[in-house]
Amino acid sequence: MNFDQIIDRRGTHSMKWDMMQDRYGVSPDTGISMWVADMDFRPPSCVQDALQKAVDHGVYGYFGDDDAYRAAICWWMANRHGWQVDPAHIFTTHGLVNAVGLCLHTWTQPGDGVVLFTPVYHAFARTIQAAGRKVVECPLALNDGRYEMDFDEADALMTGQERMLVLCSPHNPGGRVWTAQELRKVADFCARHDLILVSDEIHHDLVMPGSRHLPMAVAAPDCADRLVMLTAASKTFNLAGTHCGNVIIADARLRGQFATTLAAMGISPNSFGLHAVTAAYSPAGAEWVDALCTYLDGNRQVFDAGMNAIPGVRSMALQSTYLAWVDFSGTGMDPQEFTARVERDAQIAANHGPTFGTGGTAYLRFNLGAPRSVIEQAVARLQAAFRDLQ
Ligand SMILES: Cc1ncc(COP(=O)(O)O)c(C=O)c1O
Repeated sequence: MNFDQIIDRRGTHSMKWDMMQDRYGVSPDTGISMWVADMDFRPPSCVQDALQKAVDHGVYGYFGDDDAYRAAICWWMANRHGWQVDPAHIFTTHGLVNAVGLCLHTWTQPGDGVVLFTPVYHAFARTIQAAGRKVVECPLALNDGRYEMDFDEADALMTGQERMLVLCSPHNPGGRVWTAQELRKVADFCARHDLILVSDEIHHDLVMPGSRHLPMAVAAPDCADRLVMLTAASKTFNLAGTHCGNVIIADARLRGQFATTLAAMGISPNSFGLHAVTAAYSPAGAEWVDALCTYLDGNRQVFDAGMNAIPGVRSMALQSTYLAWVDFSGTGMDPQEFTARVERDAQIAANHGPTFGTGGTAYLRFNLGAPRSVIEQAVARLQAAFRDLQ
């Protein structure tokens, strides 16, 4: 659990480090990578040991007998989230973007509207558009520095052509942990407009002290007949490259429909993902996640204090995720100017706000899943890049 250790990821086919030059013009030799959402940490030793065991055995055949994997998921959801999952309700996909694509295929037709509260994780819109469906943006309201859903406005935006809502819970970017009341309002909204509710809860374990995530299945059990829960161990344990996600569906009719899609597409799991998840969802994994959340909260405090000291810059107070959402509008600079200062002057690669949809123009998103010393260095560079504002 040495989160302070610097692990050089350059030259390892890391998207985050080995593509930053291409994407942002920031050299990995001089720059700091703070874009794509994976962390610069190794997973806990229970996960490393399980993967090592599979490698040492050395025969990479098809995976079967997934009872232990399903049991581990049920244990985790009950113990960490107060959610009783039936092991027979779990499907495995190649990650959650894949799961969103499969949901679109199963429950919508080309041309149908899919509702997003924006700004939101950029791959949702990309996947919806690539599938020939229409993104219907409901802009989040910014109240007292935090995002809230405006259901009156969302009601007014519905045309009757919408078939699905993809919720990000907790929210990326901005890090909101939605309250029970907000979650129930989302469920009511879906019932009013007859939408399938896909609740992407990939960030559910990365919750800062003082906040508590509530699974949609627990907050709004009445919506089970339209609810599709998406979860994964990938953000929590830094396993994104193993591409393993879970689709959990309580309703038998929806489950049958989703099973048909998986069969039609020939989707079956990758053994490394299953080994990793089975090991991660354990008491040893839980202890590691507790330590991780405390560490990430420390990173967040260092980053926010440093960024908020720059006049006109505001880092949104995260309740969850390690993805800081920073508003540069108060600097009076246009996005080209503040982005150039971050990339060219500070040599930092951060996600551009507009890719997250309406409301993102004045923002950059910074990944804080890195050793504390790297965050401190990033803050020092950013303060230097905006020194003339002091
Ligand atoms: C809300 C959300 N869903 C899904 C993903 C990606 O999931 P996967 O790597 O399993 O496709 C991310 C990654 O940042 C995310 O933030």
